[in-house]
Amino acid sequence: MAASLRPLFLAITPLLVISSLIRSSEGEGVGFYWGQSLHDENLAEMCNNSMYRYAVLASLNLGGNRPVLSIDDKCNPSYPAGCAYLGHMIDFCKGQGIKVLLSLGGRPDLSSDDAHNVAEYIWNNFLSNNSGPGPLNATVDGIDFRIQSGSNQSLDVLARALRNYSTPERKVYLSAAPLCQIPDYYLDDAIKTGVFDHVWVQFFGDPSCEFYPPIWIAWSCYLDKYNTTLSLGITRNPDTDGFIPCDDLFTRTFFVVQFPKFGTLMVFEGKYDCNFSAGVLLASGKKSMNKFYAID
Ligand SMILES: *[C@@H]1O[C@H](CO)[C@@H](O)[C@H](O)[C@H]1NC(C)=O
Ligand SMILES: *[C@@H]1O[C@H](CO)[C@@H](O)[C@H](O)[C@H]1NC(C)=O
Ligand SMILES: *[C@@H]1O[C@H](CO)[C@@H](O)[C@H](O)[C@H]1NC(C)=O
Ligand SMILES: *[C@@H]1O[C@H](CO)[C@@H](O)[C@H](O)[C@H]1NC(C)=O
Ligand SMILES: *[C@@H]1O[C@H](CO)[C@@H](O)[C@H](O)[C@H]1NC(C)=O
Ligand SMILES: *[C@@H]1O[C@H](CO)[C@@H](O)[C@H](O)[C@H]1NC(C)=O
Ligand SMILES: *[C@@H]1O[C@H](CO)[C@@H](O)[C@H](O)[C@H]1NC(C)=O
Repeated sequence: MAASLRPLFLAITPLLVISSLIRSSEGEGVGFYWGQSLHDENLAEMCNNSMYRYAVLASLNLGGNRPVLSIDDKCNPSYPAGCAYLGHMIDFCKGQGIKVLLSLGGRPDLSSDDAHNVAEYIWNNFLSNNSGPGPLNATVDGIDFRIQSGSNQSLDVLARALRNYSTPERKVYLSAAPLCQIPDYYLDDAIKTGVFDHVWVQFFGDPSCEFYPPIWIAWSCYLDKYNTTLSLGITRNPDTDGFIPCDDLFTRTFFVVQFPKFGTLMVFEGKYDCNFSAGVLLASGKKSMNKFYAID
């Protein structure tokens, strides 16, 4: 398929270049995780790129019921005051039209009461500036759940409690990053609440999670009732299982954008460096992709 698509790709490139200058409606474009690695580009440099629509800062780690911010060598439990340096970069990203989310990680162990308290803590410190600028010296647009250890209890309560802060004037974005197996041990109950806007499934990390259309279709059917978009979570680290080289990524992107609830391409590790896909994703949407597909 890759070979047969190549001439088509060359033919539509001028069109993609034009449409890549236009930011498309919410739900398309590329997202990236930032933090946890000393090799990342600076956040503002990453956001200074029109192909990105989501930036997910990793992480606010839950140790039991205690949230601790740990993002990079300047912002971690040893240097909690250091996190404020991220504020102007977060504001820059938001100014570029990028939605900035803070990712929850760590090993949670929450009672229902804990979950409400953590939601309130997150609201006060990261989502609203009612009680001052907060540890990041900026507010974020939403919260991402990337929980892969600890207890699976009360994460649904936490998701609902965070959603409760969303108002028509101030939407609180919520996303979840499950591993590829259905159901996800940690996030399944939370996903079933239907409060997530985006689910970015991690199609990497072990050989059973490499991207195959049947797994994508299974997720798509599974999420159908939850009013959430399904995004293709990828690694750009060639040493990780499930790494997809650019040529293959193009054909896979071509496949996934045809699904009505397709969200975005979410880059969990590494720097996005496939030139075509930003254009594909920012092209005028699934209808035109279907048209291109029909031509083929
Ligand atoms: C963004 O890119 C432009 C053009 O390359 C450059 O002039 C500007 O300094 C960059 N801004 C940031 C915050 O990196
Ligand atoms: C926090 O942000 C404000 C502007 O939004 C800035 O004036 C201030 O210097 C920042 N504080 C720190 C510690 O970076
Ligand atoms: C935070 O405070 C500034 C100025 O006080 C305000 O403009 C902004 O809308 C507030 N809210 C958020 C969510 O950042
Ligand atoms: C936790 O995982 C167990 C085993 O898969 C499951 O039965 C239970 O419903 C899960 N609980 C929550 C709150 O997700
Ligand atoms: C959300 O808010 C409603 C109404 O204010 C309240 O009844 C409900 O308990 C809240 N749910 C959570 C999970 O906080
Ligand atoms: C579905 O999600 C969209 C976008 O997040 C939101 O505007 C809409 O209100 C949601 N619909 C329902 C039924 O929750
Ligand atoms: C993408 O394009 C840039 C500039 O044209 C080039 O330097 C880079 O090598 C290309 N990347 C890939 C993976 O083809």
